[in-house]
Amino acid sequence: MTLEILADAEHLAARAADFIAGVINEKPQTTVLVATGNTPMRTYAELERRVKAGELDCSSATAVQLDEYLGLPEGDPRSLYGWMERAFVRPLGIQRVIRFDSALEPHSACARFDREVAGVDGIDLAILGLGPNGHLGFNEPPSGPDAPTRALTLTPESLSSNAAYWGELEVPTRALTAGMSTILSSRRVLLLVLGAHKREVLARALLGPLTPDLPASYLRDTNLTVLADQAAARGLT
Ligand code: PGA
Repeated sequence: MTLEILADAEHLAARAADFIAGVINEKPQTTVLVATGNTPMRTYAELERRVKAGELDCSSATAVQLDEYLGLPEGDPRSLYGWMERAFVRPLGIQRVIRFDSALEPHSACARFDREVAGVDGIDLAILGLGPNGHLGFNEPPSGPDAPTRALTLTPESLSSNAAYWGELEVPTRALTAGMSTILSSRRVLLLVLGAHKREVLARALLGPLTPDLPASYLRDTNLTVLADQAAARGLT
């Protein structure tokens, strides 16, 4: 595992964009698992800037959805795929996407997602944020390392942290997530962590026991790079 501590969100975004661009330049057909949430947004904006400036070409990469709410009508503003499309897929000129098909019932959507991920030989790079409760995607605690791609009910912690995204709109209570097994078998994992409110959960993820009660702790078994700002990493060395 590598931990890099950056001064602030802006420096973290630049460093994360360097990392992601390095992977894509090395293998243009890279398959990238893409987190939404607030943490990676500056990083995606910096990647967009580089694409627009002609410094980076992401057109051969495949973007893979990490998670999605269940039960939203087509075109609902809370769709996590919609967020990923606006923030990552379209601005980076990505042509190929693997996503959860909301027209299918959940079990079939998960089976199809797993088949498609297997069909591209798995994930080269997972870009992840850290849930305040240690979740990865929507692998809520408790989730062990073999937890499959599946439908689940969100915990009160995730309902409350996700409420910040949607203003007056309610957070859906059910979701689909790429399984722990899919995430942990990624060839590289980039975990981005910003803010003092993530400090305790980051310390537990990096220094505490590997436990289903903190799904992010299992990242230590992967080829992991953690980029954290000083506020999140205070006290870690
Ligand atoms: P955040 O979400 O990036 O908005 O903090 C992270 C998460 O809940 O996984």
